[in-house]
Amino acid sequence: MRKPIIAGNWKMNKNRDEALQFVYAINKEVPESELVESVICAQAPVLRDLVKRQGDNLRVGAQTMHELDNGAYTGEISADLLDNIGVTYVIIGHSERRAYYNETDEKINKKLHQAFRYGLTPILCVGESLELREAGDTDNFVKDQVTKALKGLGSEQVKELVIAYEPIWAIGTGKTATSEQANDTIKGIRGVVKDLYDEETAEALRMQYGGSVKPHNVDELLAQSDIDGALVGGASLDPESFLTLVKAGLK
Ligand code: 13P
Repeated sequence: MRKPIIAGNWKMNKNRDEALQFVYAINKEVPESELVESVICAQAPVLRDLVKRQGDNLRVGAQTMHELDNGAYTGEISADLLDNIGVTYVIIGHSERRAYYNETDEKINKKLHQAFRYGLTPILCVGESLELREAGDTDNFVKDQVTKALKGLGSEQVKELVIAYEPIWAIGTGKTATSEQANDTIKGIRGVVKDLYDEETAEALRMQYGGSVKPHNVDELLAQSDIDGALVGGASLDPESFLTLVKAGLK
């Protein structure tokens, strides 16, 4: 059985005061981490504050990270620092990073290797544009993204990995993929991992759906055979809404 994982991606939202208020508001109600993994991915300067107050059941993640150890890379964040301050997850290859910051599949592959070197759990994002979906190219495109991202990783690493399937056309648009569409693509990714590794690895890998997940549609998405969780933007910003989402992982 794969443990459900619900992660909030706050993107460039919430200052320190707002982030701390959020954590105080949810702290006592975050479900047992044995039962569901609840994660908040926040802006880098507030990560340490969140780690200090995460309590027993919440986990804290970063939204990106550099692929190299250290050096003259102004503005970047190292895996070493994330690990050092107690961050456990890191989103890699979000479509916004791919689109606005030129993150290529090759770079994303390097970042995954780097995250594992420092014991961070990567949440690898993949997903197609509306044009690709309408052209019927979703499966091939996502397969290619996954294959390039996983290059050189061992099966023990892939078993620890989280993959978030986030169709770009469903992000922040209010348009959710139907639960069948989401499950079909995610099942396809599991098939790719099975071909690249083996059945055991594919079955261990946790996969999330992301793109306009809300309290009203999360149950149906999580009820699907291959969807193990959600990566949530907008609906993770409100404490009540976030709690509803993580509690859906208990059902
Ligand atoms: P929304 O939930 O706001 O559509 O964002 C999804 C997302 O990009 C999470 O990483």
